[in-house]
Amino acid sequence: MSKVLVSGGCGFIGSHLCDRIMRRSDLELCIVVDNLWTGDVQNLAHIRDDRFRIVQSDVERFQTDLRFDEIYHLASPASPPWYMSEPIRTISANLIGAMRLLELLAPGGRFGFTSTSEIYGDPLVSPQPESYRGSVDCTGPRSSYDESKRCTESLLFETRRTKGIDLRVVRLFNVYGPRTRPDDGRAVSNFIMQALSGQPLTVYGSGEQSRSWGYVEDIVDGLERYFWSDPVNYPGPLNIGNDREIPVIEVARYISKMFGNLPIHHVDPAPQDPTNRRPDLNLARRTLPGWKCKVPYEKGVQLTVDWFRAHLAQQYQDQLTLI
Ligand SMILES: NC(=O)c1ccc[n+]([C@@H]2O[C@H](COP(=O)([O-])OP(=O)(O)OC[C@H]3O[C@@H](n4cnc5c(N)ncnc54)[C@H](O)[C@@H]3O)[C@@H](O)[C@H]2O)c1
Repeated sequence: MSKVLVSGGCGFIGSHLCDRIMRRSDLELCIVVDNLWTGDVQNLAHIRDDRFRIVQSDVERFQTDLRFDEIYHLASPASPPWYMSEPIRTISANLIGAMRLLELLAPGGRFGFTSTSEIYGDPLVSPQPESYRGSVDCTGPRSSYDESKRCTESLLFETRRTKGIDLRVVRLFNVYGPRTRPDDGRAVSNFIMQALSGQPLTVYGSGEQSRSWGYVEDIVDGLERYFWSDPVNYPGPLNIGNDREIPVIEVARYISKMFGNLPIHHVDPAPQDPTNRRPDLNLARRTLPGWKCKVPYEKGVQLTVDWFRAHLAQQYQDQLTLI
């Protein structure tokens, strides 16, 4: 029976990962450690299970006598406006958080870490294989995120080399879907929130910058397989994402059309916004045979719009009840 810790489990991806963990028959205990910086306990309110607990704490300062068989370290904002507004806190969550969690790993335990495609920076090769070393500005406006992910990867691989932990590092590409914060600040949720309130959609720069948008269920399916369900013996790094690359302007046009052709306004580009991003998935296909992104972008956007509608209606209803 396994004791599992998830840092950042109240967040967007973490909450979907917890849903998968709670389906496991070998689970003894799942503890979520989250300081609710960008997360929301409502994302986990539907889980009613004696094996499940949420502790509100900074992961760096989490105190317990327990030792865990599996630790999944997701605690970190993923959205540029959030991590850029508190860069030191972002570095701490990733790096100091990982150092603290390593102390809580039982002997022979498994450590999973969600790194990011941002460590490839503004890539000069496309698609990006795991062997690509990236093109990152280590003192630039995004460096708190990119560099703390890179340094945490280094910490984990060196710990594996010197102490022999069972390591699983994924590099996630852009993820979207239900449970994204309405004020998350990234393209898909921004466009949907603007469209739902009938406002023009704002695109940073020309919108020709491309991203590979992975629907959250497909991405968490990959995490589930890699972290515990498939027989894998590879520490990573492993790209997980959708390799269909779409320019941001195309997403804006698609959502604008869904809502009756809303106008699209262009504003100044975001600082050091990468021009392109697309995973090379050859290694993922070999490591996780049969895994692939199944939800087409058009369906994923519709499911996300449906969720935002229901979520906002529920929030409105809750406010009315409080009055
Ligand atoms: N969403 C994406 O597109 C994407 C892409 C690449 C990598 N990732 C990585 O996946 C992970 C989850 O991303 P997400 O999109 O769910 O982000 P999120 O912001 O929704 O979730 C992060 C969670 O971590 C919590 N947290 C932050 N700092 C903490 C700390 N010091 N102690 C405890 N809890 C803390 C937040 O409250 C939140 O619940 C992150 O590590 C992120 O870097 C996400």
